[in-house]
Amino acid sequence: MGLSACALTDQPAVSQPPVRKGGAYRLTIGKTPAVLTLQDIESLFIRRGAEQYSGEPVTQLEHALQCAALAEAEGADDELVTAALLHDLGHLLQDLGETPTLRGVDDVHQYAALPFLRGLFGERVLGGIQLHVDAKRYLCATRPGYHEALSEDSKRSLKLQGGTFSDEQAQAFIARAGAPDAVRLRIWDDLAKTAGAPTPPLSHFLTRARRCALGAGAA
Ligand SMILES: [Fe+2]
Ligand SMILES: [Fe+2]
Repeated sequence: MGLSACALTDQPAVSQPPVRKGGAYRLTIGKTPAVLTLQDIESLFIRRGAEQYSGEPVTQLEHALQCAALAEAEGADDELVTAALLHDLGHLLQDLGETPTLRGVDDVHQYAALPFLRGLFGERVLGGIQLHVDAKRYLCATRPGYHEALSEDSKRSLKLQGGTFSDEQAQAFIARAGAPDAVRLRIWDDLAKTAGAPTPPLSHFLTRARRCALGAGAA
């Protein structure tokens, strides 16, 4: 079931508009999380994409577009490009204010969007989104110099997210389905913070997302 695009505007057309609860927007129809449509996602980026990405010199939309563009430049397929575009969508479904890591808050954004995307995309897209935080913990454990090169906000959030993996945790992580893709995504993620970097427009990546979307939400 798709949620009207209007549900993410100030004048929702569905019976149960977004309800802010515990710092997050809960989009529900009855007791079931509503599945976002691609139109909803576009509306969300239009509405909140201009917000600054905490502690970084880019907006939320610029970060998403740069991450997707880097994926595309490396020849990633539609699902991985879409995961790159949407990996931080969870930030846009929350309202935790400026730089929550400075207040010791882990927003668990890697999980926040999943209930709303399940049904719109398959496991490969969802897995890239879900695992992109653990991929950072993996890279800190396995790639010399990776941690040092992280932005200050990313170093702060790492501590809140459980810190660098042990060797055992790193091995277990990379054996998971989707983990190698998530590691690729993470590297693009870390690079997608360049002020003013040119990218294709959102519509370009939504076209790619539509090609790998499932069901009515792709309309
Ligand atoms: Fe993230
Ligand atoms: Fe990100």
